[in-house]
Amino acid sequence: MTLKVQGLTKAFGNLVAVRNVTFEVPKGQMIGIIGRSGAGKSTLLRMINRLADPTSGRILADGDVDVCKLKGARVRKWRAQCAMVFQQFNLVPRLTVMTNVLMGRISYHATVRTLLMLFTSKDRAYTIRALQRLDMVSHALHRADELSGGQQQRVAIARALVQEPKILLADEPIASLDLRNASIVMDALRRINKDDGITVICNLHLLQTAKDYCDRIIGMRKGEIVFDGLPSELNEAMARDIYGVGEHGAGEPADDEVDLAFTATQTAESAADSVPESKAKAGTGR
Ligand SMILES: Nc1ncnc2c1ncn2[C@@H]1O[C@H](COP(=O)(O)OP(=O)(O)OP(=O)(O)O)[C@@H](O)[C@H]1O
Ligand SMILES: [Mg+2]
Repeated sequence: MTLKVQGLTKAFGNLVAVRNVTFEVPKGQMIGIIGRSGAGKSTLLRMINRLADPTSGRILADGDVDVCKLKGARVRKWRAQCAMVFQQFNLVPRLTVMTNVLMGRISYHATVRTLLMLFTSKDRAYTIRALQRLDMVSHALHRADELSGGQQQRVAIARALVQEPKILLADEPIASLDLRNASIVMDALRRINKDDGITVICNLHLLQTAKDYCDRIIGMRKGEIVFDGLPSELNEAMARDIYGVGEHGAGEPADDEVDLAFTATQTAESAADSVPESKAKAGTGR
């Protein structure tokens, strides 16, 4: 599935959260959206998923369907096609991992079957396979609230996968995780993107993560796209522009973020000279 986002704008009263955003998404790309807090990243993903409606503009899927005009059952079908994972995982804590993932199959059933939790053997097969892929099958019968954050996010990704999505939207999927779990989750997203050809659009807090994992980076600032290109094209000055470093009131983590990202890149590049190519590649998460 391809997407064409055209002139998308979202205003909350006087505040314009996303302003006249235009970009195209070919099938199968992994895109990282970066920008400082309040830049409009979540609002943009929420509009793509139809959790929020734009004030103006449109989103064309496969060239002709305006996603923003879909209604009723077609909105639900769209939401299944572009599954979303969130920073806070959004699992049902008291339910088992298995049931949480089965919930991803809901859009394939009538309401009554869903209310009675009447899932088919196909649903269960999809669920087990998704849990296997995320290395979570041994936890299938555990309650979601017994899991670590990293495990919960893997369950949330499994739930998204059983929706059989064409696009996977991830809103800061690793922001609540430690480094080790963050790379397990990012590796999983990258594998799903590569192996299944599912487009992944991922809001990321850290520039370095976007550089390591994504084919393309979109930088947002104050609701607008200020960079759209390859990770290798994003130089330090552009990164500083995206994060608004140096502006009045725009200090805090952004400065460190840009510095760290470029230091880490340089270190990785110099290390790559002395490391076998396969290992150097593995280090980038690709
Ligand atoms: N429902 C809402 N009502 C009013 N203002 C909102 C609403 N949702 C978002 N905003 C505002 O829109 C702007 C963009 O918010 P958004 O959550 O999209 O930013 P973000 O880039 O995802 O930030 P963060 O990195 O903190 O998640 C912010 O100024 C925010 O306060
Ligand atoms: Mg956000």
